[in-house]
Amino acid sequence: MTSTHQFVKQLEAHVHERLAGLDLLKEPEIGAVDRLEIVRRLKMALKNELEASEIAAVWIPTTPEIEVKLALARQVGDEAKHYKLIEDHLTKMGADLAGFNPSADGYGPMFQLLAGFKTTVERIGAAQFTRESLALKKNEQFIEFCEAAGDRATAKLYRESIQPDEEWHVRLGRTVLEKYATTPELQAQARSAVEAVLDLAVKVQNKQFKEMKVSHAPGC
Ligand SMILES: [Fe+2]
Ligand SMILES: [Fe+2]
Repeated sequence: MTSTHQFVKQLEAHVHERLAGLDLLKEPEIGAVDRLEIVRRLKMALKNELEASEIAAVWIPTTPEIEVKLALARQVGDEAKHYKLIEDHLTKMGADLAGFNPSADGYGPMFQLLAGFKTTVERIGAAQFTRESLALKKNEQFIEFCEAAGDRATAKLYRESIQPDEEWHVRLGRTVLEKYATTPELQAQARSAVEAVLDLAVKVQNKQFKEMKVSHAPGC
């Protein structure tokens, strides 16, 4: 194993360990949940998908590595597709989306943090390697939540149509770091970007839990 592989493996273990800590914030018991609660969380997902699509798009012109540029382009499409799938699903559930604008309050804190990263290892370390791992995990928790609430259709949408793409986004993060985070300086850059996302994720989750009583909101 090269030292770069080792670096990525260790960083991955670190991300998983920190994300496992977020489980502690799980809602202890899922009681009788009504449809409105699932609708509320799916609307939060729309904002996440929109911002995930947009940040990948913003990076395309300033990413010099061609295969990374093209992978970002695929991700832009994936997240836009997720948005559409969730939107159609909400409509089928009878949710009223007229007048709903997920970007009405501007960009969220995660988008703003990500937008500040300038190099490929920082960006991909932060967004695909870490934020997408977080999304994968949050979506798993949301699937459990939907199943416990008896909403099989929403669980199926996430399991079959969304999660496979999220797994690809995380894999992209790993591949790019293995290829490009090859010096101690680049590894330090990637590590601190990863840490910043993890710190913010914990903050956001605490805030959502406290103010909105939500911990199983789906990611992107
Ligand atoms: Fe994603
Ligand atoms: Fe997504």
